[in-house]
Formats: sequence, C-alpha cells, structure tokens
Amino acid sequence: MERIISEDEQLEDRYDEESIRPERLEDYIGQKDVKENIRVFTEAAKMREEPLDHVLLYGPPGLGKTTLAYIIANELGSNIRITSGPSIEKSGDLAAILSSLEPGDVLFIDEIHRLPSFVEEILYPAMEDYTLDIIVGGEGSGRNIRINLPPFTLVGATTRAGDLTSPLRDRFGIIAKLQYYTEEELKEIIKRTSRVLDMPIEDDAASELARRSRGTPRIANRLFRRVRDFALVEGDGVITVDITKKALKRLKVDDSGLDETDHQLLLGIIEKFNGGPVGLESIASVIGEEATTIEDVYEPYLLQNGFLKRTPRGRVVTEKGYRQVNRLYQNTLFDFDEIGDEDESK
Ligand SMILES: Nc1ncnc2c1ncn2[C@@H]1O[C@H](COP(=O)(O)OP(=O)(O)O)[C@@H](O)[C@H]1O
Ligand SMILES: [Mg+2]
Repeated sequence: MERIISEDEQLEDRYDEESIRPERLEDYIGQKDVKENIRVFTEAAKMREEPLDHVLLYGPPGLGKTTLAYIIANELGSNIRITSGPSIEKSGDLAAILSSLEPGDVLFIDEIHRLPSFVEEILYPAMEDYTLDIIVGGEGSGRNIRINLPPFTLVGATTRAGDLTSPLRDRFGIIAKLQYYTEEELKEIIKRTSRVLDMPIEDDAASELARRSRGTPRIANRLFRRVRDFALVEGDGVITVDITKKALKRLKVDDSGLDETDHQLLLGIIEKFNGGPVGLESIASVIGEEATTIEDVYEPYLLQNGFLKRTPRGRVVTEKGYRQVNRLYQNTLFDFDEIGDEDESK
C-alpha cells in the first residue's frame, strides 16, 4: 500500500496539480537562497539576451524541483520541453528531442542521474557548444556529422546528486540544493493551497498540518486534500483543528507526521533489539522490507528528526523515538520527565 506520508508522487497528487503549483518565482515559498540566485541569473540572462546557464536542481522528492523547472521557463519567457532519464533509452531519443528545440527553450530532464551513459555522452557537446554529433548511414559506411543546435538551457533534476557522473555535473553552471521546509513555510504553502482550491482553513489547523508534513510541500498538499474531504463530509465547509486532528488520526498520521510503518520500525527495534544498536539487515528481516528500502525511504525522516540515530555499531532508537511510540526509555536509570517532581539537580 502506498503511504500517505510518502514523498514520492502518487496519482492523487496530480488532481488540481496545475492550479496548486506556483507558476512564478514570487509565489514559490521558501528556498530563499535558491530563489534569489535564480532570480538574478534569469534576469541577467534576459538582459544579455543569452540563454540561462544549465541548472541542476537536487534534493529529496516533493520539495519543488519540477515546480522550479517550470518557473524558470516562465521567468525566462521560454517554452519548456519535458523528459526524464529513464524514458530516454536510445541516443536517437535524445537526439530527436535536442534537434527539435527552439532558441531559448528550457529542456527539463527529470531523474537525470538515470540517463544511460552512452546517452549522457551526447549531452556533453550539446551542453557545452550546442552541437550534436550523430552518425548517419550505417553498416560500416556510417559517417559522423555535426549539427548545430539552437542555444538552450538544460534543467536537470535529481534526488541523488551523488549518482551523477562528474563530467555531467561539471557542465552545470548553476547547482542548487533544495532544503526541507520549515513549519512556517509549509503553513504558508497550505494557506496558499487553501486559497487556490477555495477551501478555507483555520490558522491553527494549518499549523497542525504543517507540523505533520515532514518538511515536504508534496505531503502538505496531499494531507490538505484528505483533510478537506473530511471537512466537506463531516464539517461545515471550513477546515478546523478538530477536523484536522480527527482526519489525521483516521489516516494514522501521528503528531509528528509519522505513520504506522514508522511506528513499526521504531517498535521493532525497541522490542526485538532493546532499542539497538542494530544493523540494517537485522531491522530489515524483522520489518519484512529490503535493507535498501529502509535506508532510502523509511529512515531519512526518522534520522533527520532525531527519532533514530546512526552509530558505528548500528541504528539506535533515541529517547525522542521511544516517547513517540509511547515506550519508556530504559537506557537511563531515572527519567525525571516521567517521574515528575523529583529533585532535578542531582
Ligand atoms: N516552494 C513551493 N511553494 C509552493 N508549493 C510548492 C513549492 N515547492 C513545491 N510545491 C508543491 O509541492 C508539490 C511537489 O512539488 P514538485 O515540484 O513536484 O517536487 P519534486 O519535483 O521536487 O519532487 C507540487 O504540487 C507543488 O505545488
Ligand atoms: Mg519532480
């Protein structure tokens, strides 16, 4: 089953997507530094009447890479062509796209780390000198010809900048890392979505949703839609705090945005391994998931928010993690918070 708090795009995320997605830089919330740089570089490119330098956007899923690619094209007043690493299988696929570009176009390649390497090599001269080297003919009689391409801007997006080859990475003039959003920023995004979808939300309710959105706009918007459904059916057309809490309880998303799978993982380590340290493989066998899935999908948010800790000897559930799943933290003799009015000076 797909997790409601998954960062990856799900079918329902596409409903209303076009209206929710900000189209201009001024409506893109947060990511202050990235936004400022993009603003300066796009304006300079327009003043010089030259294409914008190639841009690499990286960061976890759902933080706004695709959105920013569209915005860059809008700010430049250019058309955007969209493709993705895995969908380009042959060098001819990429050659066809490149040779159909118009001057100033933005070519967006999503998941660019998944481009096959022989396709990647076509990209180098295209990015560097706007040329395309292709072989015509064949059967031994093939000859190399060089085609000039119109100046264009490549915008690449990836969740794994480390998987990019360095020759490719080096050909991007602008490299921007997107960060997780603060609760304040997520709240702003939720309020914006509420206005766009014409479904009012109380301020407290927006805060509550923001707190549970794992720093990720995609999750914030998804939770908003679900809570909106509860408000329509069970409320009177306004999203209140009560409805929000009730809906999230029903969806089994806790007060920090953890879902059942997160709970299973923490509880598994606590109950089977006494809270750790324990290796990934052992966790995997208890939870019934691949170790790599745990590492890439389940762990990052738990680590980032201090529910789980990485140590040289394995993963350890922190005191915060114990509290989150309502288990007593046993690695200290006395837990003054639990005992209450004991003398805390000891
Ligand atoms: N800075 C932002 N301000 C407002 N909404 C955002 C922002 N970043 C992302 N979103 C919203 O979050 C959703 C996911 O963004 P997307 O660009 O698809 O993420 P990514 O491509 O990084 O996975 C989109 O629906 C978009 O509307
Ligand atoms: Mg995307």
